[in-house]
Amino acid sequence: MKDKNIVILTGAGISAESGLSTFRDNGGLWCNHRIEDVATPQAFFRNPMLVHDFYNSRRSQLKDVEPNAAHQALAKLAAKWQGKVYIITQNVDDLHERAAKNTNKPPILLHMHGELKKARCAESEKVFEWDGDLSTETPCPCCDKKGNMRPHIVWFGEIPLYMEAIQLLLKECSLFMSIGTSGNVYPAAGFVHEVRSFTDAHTVELNKEPSQGKSLFHEKIYGNATEIVPAYIDKILTGQVKLTA
Ligand code: APR
Repeated sequence: MKDKNIVILTGAGISAESGLSTFRDNGGLWCNHRIEDVATPQAFFRNPMLVHDFYNSRRSQLKDVEPNAAHQALAKLAAKWQGKVYIITQNVDDLHERAAKNTNKPPILLHMHGELKKARCAESEKVFEWDGDLSTETPCPCCDKKGNMRPHIVWFGEIPLYMEAIQLLLKECSLFMSIGTSGNVYPAAGFVHEVRSFTDAHTVELNKEPSQGKSLFHEKIYGNATEIVPAYIDKILTGQVKLTA
């Protein structure tokens, strides 16, 4: 019997109860910052320090927050599930990794929009673990040039990371879960459609409110992630959720 793999797409909503702002909710990041100023290659060319300040403050905020019960429930699923558990996250925080750090079988994690705790050389594309602030004065570890370092974040107009691997995973999953995402941003917002087109996997949306893609899901559960996700994971682990053969 082929192992049944579970693919989970997560968005900013899963980290909201850890104290990290989402993007489009009231008071969200895009209410207080213009995408054109902080999240495009053109913005970085025009005013790199404005962009660095935006990601520096989000990076430093990570030390003040902890994974919540929803992150931990996904780590528990990966540790206990006989098949593989893949988390495709749109989030650039490190809360999924931290929730799974002491488990023997962590989820396979793909940060399709990049990571705050990494930086890269804009010339060589080499990627480095990064903890502190970045600025136009930061010498690049690979070429020693100042002004070459940029956040390892996928900006609007750029191609997300790991797309080839993601396409394969979507075509082979037995259960597709979408957690804490509004379904406004492609290609992530189109994943459920691909799963429905290529597999007969069960699909479920877990979110505070209906997303843009709600009609494409077999099952929809609304509420706070820290309540609805652990409950659903327990249903999976006790065989109460139908997965494809
Ligand atoms: N529990 C569950 N869901 C929540 C919670 C919560 N506590 N709080 C908010 N949500 C839901 C909201 O209802 C909303 O549907 O999380 C979703 C967050 O949506 P967005 O702010 O649009 O974030 P996301 O979908 O992750 O954005 C996708 O857009 O701005 C770009 O690159 C950025 O990765 C990001 C992408």
